[in-house]
Amino acid sequence: MPYAHITGWGMSVPSKVLTNDDISKMVDTNDEWIRERTGIRERRIADERQSSASLGAEAAIAALKVADLLPTDIDLIICATSTPEHIFPATACIIQDKIGATKAGAFDLSAACSGFIYGLTMGSQAIRAGANKNVLVIGTETLSRFIDWKDRNTCILFGDGAGAFVLQASEQAGGAYGAVMHSDGSGSDLLTIPAGGSRTPTSELTLRTGMHFIHMDGKEVFRFATRVMAGATIEAVEKSGWKLEDLSLIVPHQANQRIIDAAARSLKLPMDKFMVNLDRYGNTSTASIPIATVEAVQQGKLRPGDKVVFVGFGAGLTWGALAAEWTGPKQATRRVVKAEWFPWFAPIRSVLRRFGRLIEGIIFGRKS
Ligand code: ACO
Repeated sequence: MPYAHITGWGMSVPSKVLTNDDISKMVDTNDEWIRERTGIRERRIADERQSSASLGAEAAIAALKVADLLPTDIDLIICATSTPEHIFPATACIIQDKIGATKAGAFDLSAACSGFIYGLTMGSQAIRAGANKNVLVIGTETLSRFIDWKDRNTCILFGDGAGAFVLQASEQAGGAYGAVMHSDGSGSDLLTIPAGGSRTPTSELTLRTGMHFIHMDGKEVFRFATRVMAGATIEAVEKSGWKLEDLSLIVPHQANQRIIDAAARSLKLPMDKFMVNLDRYGNTSTASIPIATVEAVQQGKLRPGDKVVFVGFGAGLTWGALAAEWTGPKQATRRVVKAEWFPWFAPIRSVLRRFGRLIEGIIFGRKS
């Protein structure tokens, strides 16, 4: 049975920074309160040209470069997102087109902030089962588009960004090991965008009452998160046949410093075992774990052979964890064609295909 190694990782965040002081000019809050209660100092906000697909595509290309693969080598794209471009088509398909991953199947995965863990689990299982060889798992968000900037309970928390991993099949032991996924839909009302779906389609009333924005019972979500983070970590470690002491690093979902502190206390592990960068990005939902991982590698906190657990929680309610042995980058080959060229050529291919469909439509349309 092949192993699923993490051989590529990448991130993309908008350049626009929104500080706590900026938010204090919009709602009744202040930098001290936000820092003390959440640990967040600033977050990134997408400009009007950026979207979940554009950020996701940039993160994907960065991950492919590390993995020394081309978009055409990918056979499956899983895009975990809470802020898809549309209800359908899947954002994964838009990314597939943007990066020119012409041989890939592509679908979106909706599990809120746990989405990246769910995606990693599905992707690694597809490899373990022998169904796929090279899988791209992306977490991408433009949460700023769903925030009520008059609601201080939520607008202080979230930010935009994207992260991606490349999973690759290998006969060599390593990569993804034990994983767990959990859900409890009885808490579905605790964190939700109430309108815009089939239950409550967008209407003049939903717009007037702000039901197209994120609504959250912060206290309940906080209590739930502190309950499940440690448990999921232990489950993933035990499923891998490891002990907590074997772990070099835990990369938790970056929602609130106090939630991560509570998990560290429950696990009786020092804080230096936890990767934290929420002070600079806020909660980027599905993107937070891959973004934190990229920075952990850059800071030398994650090295080849290290045992690591990725653990997250989110709306649904959902939570989960995946334990992995970190593979590290592959030896680069001398390639004539480079992954970063694809986003330049892929739009030409896309236009030609659209043009082909237009011509086909005219020909067959006339005949009928
Ligand atoms: N600035 C100043 N005061 C505030 C603010 C603010 N931004 N927000 C709330 N307050 C006030 C409240 O009104 C309250 O005042 P009161 O005591 O006079 O009523 C006081 O501060 C305390 O409010 P709490 O809601 O009890 O504050 P708490 O310590 O719980 O922190 C927070 C709120 C930060 C939202 C916290 O509950 C939290 O982080 N919850 C988890 C949220 C989360 O992680 N969500 C993402 C999940 S992942 C996903 O799927 C997207």
